[in-house]
Amino acid sequence: MTSPMYILHGAGPVAAMQDKLGWYLMIVSIIVVVVVGILVLAGARRRHDGRDQVARSGSGMRWVIVGGIIVPATVLVVTFALTIATEDATASPPADPAVTVQVIGHRWWWEVKYLADPAHTVVTANEIHIPVGQPVRVELSSADVIHSFWIPQLAGKTDVIPGQRNVAWLEADSPGIYRGACTEYCGLQHSNMAAFVVAESPAQFAEWLETQAKSAAPPSDPDAAAGLAVFQKSACAACHAIRGSDALGQVGPDLTHLVGRMTLAAGALENTRGNLTGWIANSQAIKPGNDMPTMTLSAGDLQALVSYLETLK
Ligand code: CUA
Repeated sequence: MTSPMYILHGAGPVAAMQDKLGWYLMIVSIIVVVVVGILVLAGARRRHDGRDQVARSGSGMRWVIVGGIIVPATVLVVTFALTIATEDATASPPADPAVTVQVIGHRWWWEVKYLADPAHTVVTANEIHIPVGQPVRVELSSADVIHSFWIPQLAGKTDVIPGQRNVAWLEADSPGIYRGACTEYCGLQHSNMAAFVVAESPAQFAEWLETQAKSAAPPSDPDAAAGLAVFQKSACAACHAIRGSDALGQVGPDLTHLVGRMTLAAGALENTRGNLTGWIANSQAIKPGNDMPTMTLSAGDLQALVSYLETLK
């Protein structure tokens, strides 16, 4: 849905450092496998020829010391040093990140909070907007079980652990949508727990953040107004918040700017009116086991509700 997940096309400085280490490890591993393969074949042939007494001679001993101790030890020490250096360089963002985002793992979606402006906490879900070319600090925590946050084109995996705050660093070199996923098995819908990073120009990002900080305007259309009443009197408001309405639920995603999102249900569905209607009517058929109950609404109430939700731009 929306964009494929690329694993080998790094698109930011963190991914570039990790890519470099990955390719180094890959090349060293291939060389080791090839060399060991050649030695095993040569050894088998020599035994076949009955010439294994060479192993006990002086040149045989040199082979053992150089090939068996010095070379492997050097490769291991260099690999260790490069790994530590890469981990150190990518562990946390530069001291002065442009943006700090809190990402909270839930079964099975991501809550996204921006703390840049304390007066207006922006809350959204599954889509993390960032300014291009600037370091973004991502503070990860979990509301339930262990998840793992991975946007492969931007950075490696970071575990998302209940009761603990882990920090990741994202930075994109160019604008685009970077798809990621939860990569720690977290239950039935683990595979439907996508995350998207939307990298845009700093001006577009600032505009997006400003829009997101606004409350939802009361609907002017009578159908949508009826939908708001349905939302507030049904189970919806117990779990979802819409800033600007009486709905303050904290269990499910904040819906204040629902229409601006690309997908519903953490990447499971494209965000269209039809999919939204189907999701409300029977989300358990689409993403079994999710926390949203099956809503028993009349057809009229359901359409009014969707008309209201479609005003949440
Ligand atoms: Cu969350 Cu797997």
